[in-house]
Amino acid sequence: MTLTARSRRLVCLIGFMGSGKSTVAQFLARQVGWQHADLDSRIIEATGLSIPEIFLRMGEPEFRRIEHDALARVIGESIEQQKPRVISLGGGTTTQPQNVALLRESGAVLIWLQCPVEKLLLRCAQVTDRPLFRDEASFRRLYQERLAFYELADYKVDSNFKPQRVVEQIMALGVFPKVTA
Ligand code: S3P
Repeated sequence: MTLTARSRRLVCLIGFMGSGKSTVAQFLARQVGWQHADLDSRIIEATGLSIPEIFLRMGEPEFRRIEHDALARVIGESIEQQKPRVISLGGGTTTQPQNVALLRESGAVLIWLQCPVEKLLLRCAQVTDRPLFRDEASFRRLYQERLAFYELADYKVDSNFKPQRVVEQIMALGVFPKVTA
């Protein structure tokens, strides 16, 4: 069996900081009865450090290396255990070509949670664990730079809503196998 055929059932949520990837993935996984893996949480577990600590002590290139390893591990786990997963990726995961290659090779479906930058700013201003959220101007700049990477997604949904409404939009895409009685 090919790698793609074995791991077909991976759905990954991508999008900018504050777009709701982790929360929506959690709701979505519960709804379809799949496991949920959150990439940032995996990185925190693997290193014993918070995301800001990793950036501060090791720098972004090392964070990206750790992120890539964590992604490879989650995908590997899903294949080995033959259990489908909804994975919430980090906001920068798909800016790295090696990650996109891994995701494509594993047949993952990528869904972009698209949200206006104004709303993302509001959401992120309340949380302090994002090393790449420095100030409004750089946040807006980074958002613009990232759009081209998010466009790589197979589907996009509007995440300027409550998580349950976003889940409904994802369910309507038809990417999950139908459960028959
Ligand atoms: C990052 C987003 C963060 C986290 C890290 C880098 C990014 O994840 O992976 O701070 O490059 O946009 P969230 O998108 O979950 O905040």
